[in-house]
Amino acid sequence: MNKINHCLYPVAGLGTRFLPITKSLPKELLPIIDKPLLQYAVEEAHLAGIMQMNMVVSDNKKAIQHYFSDPNPHAVDKLKKLTHLQQLMDDCDFHFVKQKEMRGLGDAILCGNEQIKKEEGAFAVILPDDLCAINTLKKMVELYQQHQCCIIAVEQVPASLVNRYGIVEVATKAIDERVYKVFNMVEKPPINEAKSDLAIIGRYILTTDIFDFIKKTKSGANQEIQITDALKMKAQRGEVIAYHLPNKRYDCGTPSGYVKAIKDYAAQLSN
Ligand code: G1P
Repeated sequence: MNKINHCLYPVAGLGTRFLPITKSLPKELLPIIDKPLLQYAVEEAHLAGIMQMNMVVSDNKKAIQHYFSDPNPHAVDKLKKLTHLQQLMDDCDFHFVKQKEMRGLGDAILCGNEQIKKEEGAFAVILPDDLCAINTLKKMVELYQQHQCCIIAVEQVPASLVNRYGIVEVATKAIDERVYKVFNMVEKPPINEAKSDLAIIGRYILTTDIFDFIKKTKSGANQEIQITDALKMKAQRGEVIAYHLPNKRYDCGTPSGYVKAIKDYAAQLSN
């Protein structure tokens, strides 16, 4: 009952910040050196013991399906670099569900309702734009096993950037190492209205009743159905905790964050 089997990857977005390359290459396949962002995300879920990978895609994301389902054109045994990808493809099932309209992250997550049944208890969500330490989701799955509620990853961001994120208010006293009860959250608040500088980062463990809460959620920031608004209802019932990330994460949804990630990963290679 405590096991998390599914991870959902909302990857239908257009990637306009990375045009023109995203005209034909999904932004989730942009590489950090030689490996796409989405493979880092799948490896993170795999390490957390998750084998059901659910990609929420749009029509122009065929390359993602191709990447995770087609046989390698190169002989795997000769190219060590491909064996890890092959291992992921052997171990995991990849499902693709289409998000018909871009109606926000909450709506994208609701598309997972087809694949993820209520009896599963909970599932994970990774936003591959946020590149995190490989053991991040594993730690969050462990926290779920202990606390049995929704869990969001958070990080402190500069005050000038709070309007780009879901911002949370948490209790001052930790309930576990780096773990805090969440009592409120707001999606992309104006800078002068933000109640804290703790931002939601793209890692979530969601209990499956979240689907009912999303169905009740009205359009919010950017006229979109926001997962933050659905989670706020759960937080007000005391059913959400925040995990303050101990490691650096890279915002690869922006060119500057993406370049920073490449520089740091490249530095590790040459060491
Ligand atoms: C989404 C979430 C937001 C979160 C962010 C993390 O926003 O809606 O709450 O802080 O991811 O990357 P987006 O980046 O899709 O605008």
